[in-house]
This record gives sequence, C-alpha cells and structure tokens, in this order.
Amino acid sequence: MGGLIISLLLLLEYIAPAMVANGAPVVLHGPPPIDFGKRLPDGRRVFGDGKSWGGLLAGITSGTFVGIIEWPLLGPQHIAYAALASAGAMCGDLFGSFIKRRAGLERGAEAPVLDQLGFYVFALLFLYMGGITFSIYAELIWAVIIYVLHRATNWAAYKLKLKSVPW
Ligand code: CTP
Ligand code: MG
Repeated sequence: MGGLIISLLLLLEYIAPAMVANGAPVVLHGPPPIDFGKRLPDGRRVFGDGKSWGGLLAGITSGTFVGIIEWPLLGPQHIAYAALASAGAMCGDLFGSFIKRRAGLERGAEAPVLDQLGFYVFALLFLYMGGITFSIYAELIWAVIIYVLHRATNWAAYKLKLKSVPW
C-alpha cells in the first residue's frame, strides 16, 4: 500500500506539468491556427481552429514552469522532464484533433476518452522515451483520476463561460 502511494505521488510529480500544459490553452490562446487553415484531401482541416500556436506556446511554457516550481523536490533536471511531458501533452492533444477531423467531427465535438486521456497517454509516452517509467498500477489509477478531473474542470470552464461546451 505504501509502495503504491509512493508510485502515485511520483507519477503526479511528472504528470502535473502535462496537466497544466493541457489546461492552459483554454484560457491562454491566440492565432494563427497550428495548421494555418490547411485542409487535407478529405476536405477537412488538419487540426482545426481549436488548436492555435498561442495555445501550444502557452501550454509548453506553463507546463515547463510547473517543472521549475517542482525543482526543489526533484532537482533541476526535472525542468527538462516537465518540458518533455508538456510537449507530449500538446502532441497528444493535436493527435486527438487530427483523428477527430479525419472522423468528420467538427471542432469542439466530443470524442470520449480521446478528449480526456489523449494528452496523458502521449505525455507518458514522451517520458518513457526520455527514460522515465512508472508502475502500471499508478498509470491506470491516474488515468481514472485524470478522466474524472478532466470532466469536472471542463464542466467548470463551461459554467465560467471559458468554454462553449461542457466537455
Ligand atoms: N486551444 C488552443 N490551442 C491548443 C489547444 C487548445 O488555442 N493547442 C484552445 C482553443 O481555444 C480550444 C480550447 O483551447 O477551443 C479547448 O481545447 P480543446 O477542447 O482541446 O479544443 P476543441 O475546441 O474542443 O477542438 P477539438 O475538437 O479539435 O478538440
Ligand atoms: Mg474539446
């Protein structure tokens, strides 16, 4: 039990930057769109207007900033891991939009699981490529927590009129 709690806390230290990176663009974003309006042969946008360079920059910057705050806990190399996890989160978010556009879903349409966990899976993947691994139990438990947290925060953002849809 103690071991699991330590694994959960360790994962949190690495994934907190990714969570902040994923959430920041909702409040901090700005044009141009990452795909510059480009469409693929299917006639749909590569990513769509929901993915902007301003949001990408805000996500990576704020996620890396979390790494700076965590520095005293984990050492200066953690800033690099925070940047890596944040970049992973943003790639996962872009991947999700790419898949949604290919599936014919408009910007802002709901894609269950992909919307909530895409960024998390990619952040874990990027950290893994950077040589950081976690216990599978900790990864699964955080997947459930992040899913619920994502639903709750997006609902709050909708109520605060930061988002036009509650997902
Ligand atoms: N956002 C942004 N740039 C990013 C990611 C997000 O500008 N790289 C902003 C957009 O204003 C977006 C909002 O954050 O509308 C919420 O993000 P998300 O729910 O991921 O985008 P959606 O609008 O739902 O678009 P999609 O259907 O492509 O997921
Ligand atoms: Mg969305």
